[in-house]
Formats: sequence, structure tokens, C-alpha cells
Amino acid sequence: MKIVAIESSCDETAVAVIEVLRQAQDKPESISVLSNVVSSQIAMHERYGGVVPALAAREHVANIGQVYGTAMKEAGLHDPAHDIDLLAVTRGPGLGPALLVGLTFARTLAWRYDKPLIGVDHMDGHVHSNWLGDNKMPNDIFPALNLIVSGGHTDLVLMRDHGDYEIIGETLDDAVGEAFDKVARLLGLPYPGGPKISALALLGNPAAYDLPRPMLKSPDFNFSYSGLKTAVLYLIRDITGGARELTETEKADIAASFQEAAIEVLIQKTRRAAEALAVPTIMLSGGVSANAQLRKRLTDMCSDMGIHCIIPAMEYTGDNAAMIAVAAYFAHQRDAASDWQSVQMDANLRLGIPPSTP
Ligand code: KG4
Ligand code: ZN
Repeated sequence: MKIVAIESSCDETAVAVIEVLRQAQDKPESISVLSNVVSSQIAMHERYGGVVPALAAREHVANIGQVYGTAMKEAGLHDPAHDIDLLAVTRGPGLGPALLVGLTFARTLAWRYDKPLIGVDHMDGHVHSNWLGDNKMPNDIFPALNLIVSGGHTDLVLMRDHGDYEIIGETLDDAVGEAFDKVARLLGLPYPGGPKISALALLGNPAAYDLPRPMLKSPDFNFSYSGLKTAVLYLIRDITGGARELTETEKADIAASFQEAAIEVLIQKTRRAAEALAVPTIMLSGGVSANAQLRKRLTDMCSDMGIHCIIPAMEYTGDNAAMIAVAAYFAHQRDAASDWQSVQMDANLRLGIPPSTP
């Protein structure tokens, strides 16, 4: 079956087409990405140091038609009424005005071509980025402990099956990606800060500064990153006395020390949760999963524990619509509602918590 998916929850306008083939009921499906078009608004939001919802929505409106046209063309789909089997769209969580653009576009396509439409949770999408690319899924994958790390989320989620989630831990304040972005700003680096901090950290000493490991000792599986960001702010004040700029070496050492603290908490908490739940698999996803140090540390930890470690292919770590299409495929397999009138936006959707609207 061919699935066309639309994603507009934040600052990427994305449309993808995937094809799912299944030879036999007991065989795993083969998923191919026929097109995966992502139009980024980063250049515009860089000027404001973050994403402005109304501006993001305006850009989605300006771009979505063309992004859809390109994705359809690249996938070789010329007659939507005939070629599309299923439509999918991100319905939350995210920025309300931005989500509404993708949702309206998807609902219009579903109405115009009389197609089923599935509303997808963006975080369910991130989890399913692991079913793309060359990733090989083991047979005994479930229950899997998911570490989902993005600009808005730092979640530990137990996945018993596709669509069956339970939140084990979450951030009590800032998300880890948000902390990367804010620390980057303190160092004078442009938005989004994550990739810039991780590049700069390569040049620095992770043991140069002793930064706090928030909630490392707490018995639960929750996180907190706003204190770490504030600790970096005070550290910079202590170093410069407010009287001079940081040197390049100091910046690199701060980036490396911050990254070390942020990742150590993720790793230790994930390890403790995996041991407590005795899971056979740990899965990583979300924008921060592009971080090379996090990918390495998690892989090493899993091999040490003797469990599967599943990490998304680099090209599917950031926001994209291919992952939304995969999540929709599995939702369709379990007969999720798919009449377009019932698909509503929910900017505050939470994985594993029954939604207020379908
Ligand atoms: O999943 P995503 O693309 O959007 C949201 O759903 O939030 O995640 C974006 C976040 C941003 O905070 C960005 O700075 C962070 O992912 N990020 C990284 C890296 N690449 C992206 N953080 C750390 N290291 C990276 N290499
Ligand atoms: Zn995301």
C-alpha cells in the first residue's frame, strides 16, 4: 500500500510517500520510502532565536502545496485518486497554528480524493523513524523502552506494541533539545543549537567544568534540564566576570562539559529504567538522537547490558513525514479511525494518555 503523509508540527514543512509490502502474514513488512521532502524554515527562525508559531504557520501555508507536489512527483504518483491508498497527518503535539496548516491540507486531500486519513501523534512518528532506512528489527523487540529526545520532549516510554505506550518518565521543565538550544544561545551560536554544540564539543574537554547532573540520584525516571542551563549561565558569568568575551577554548570546553552532563543523565536513567522493566530492547528517537555522543554511549550501554539497541538512521532523526507515514501504517493495521472528519488537532497530545479528541 502507498501512504502519503504530511507533517507541519513545528518548523519543517514535510511530505513523504512510503510503500509498504507484505508477502505473508507472519513475515515482517518491507517499508520503502518513495519520497521524503522536508522544507526547513530554520533560516527564518534563526533571526528570532527560536520558532515563532504565527510565522511558522505562514511559511507552512506558503510551502505546503509545492512540497506536496514535489513529494508526489519524486514518488512517481501522478493520479492521487488512483495511486494513494492512505493519507496520514500529524495532529499533535506541536504548535497549534502550524499543526492546523498540515491538518487542513490533509483533510482537504482526503475529502477531494475520497481517501482514508489517519491522525498521527508526532512522538509515535519519531518512535517509528526506527522502522525506516537499513534498521533491522529483531523478532523479539517488545516490550521496548523508548528514549524520545527532541526540542519539546525528554520521555522514557514503555512500548508494549505499536500504539501501546506507557510514559515511565518525562522532563519536569525544559526538554533536553531545548537545553542544547538555550546553551548554544548563551555561547552566541545560532538556532537550532544542538548540532552546533555537538560539533563544538568535539574540540573541548568534557571534564573541564563540573556541571550538575540534575535528578541523577532521584529514584524516579523523570528529568529536569532548566537547572543545568542556569548552571551554564552562572559558569559563564564566573569565567568572564561580565567583563570580557569567552575565548574559543572556553566555549568548546563549556559545550563539551554541558553535553557530557546532559547525556550522562539520559544514559543513567535509561539504564535504570531498562533494568527495572527488564526489557529486551532500547530504542532512541527524536531530533537529539542525531547527537553522535548520545548514539555511541547508548550503543555501548546496550552491548554492555546484552540487549538490543535500535537507533534511527541519521536522515530520519529530525522532523520528517516518512516517520508519520510508518506510524499511520501500523495504526491502520489495528483499525484506527480513518474518516477524515474525525481527525482533529490536539496540540497537547501525550503518548499513552487517552486523547480527548480522536
Ligand atoms: O525532533 P526535532 O527535529 O523537533 C521537535 O520535535 O522538537 O528536534 C529538534 C531538537 C532541537 O532542539 C535541536 O537542537 C536538537 O533536536 N538537535 C540536537 C542535535 N541535532 C538536533 N541536539 C543535540 N545534538 C545534535 N546533534
Ligand atoms: Zn520532532
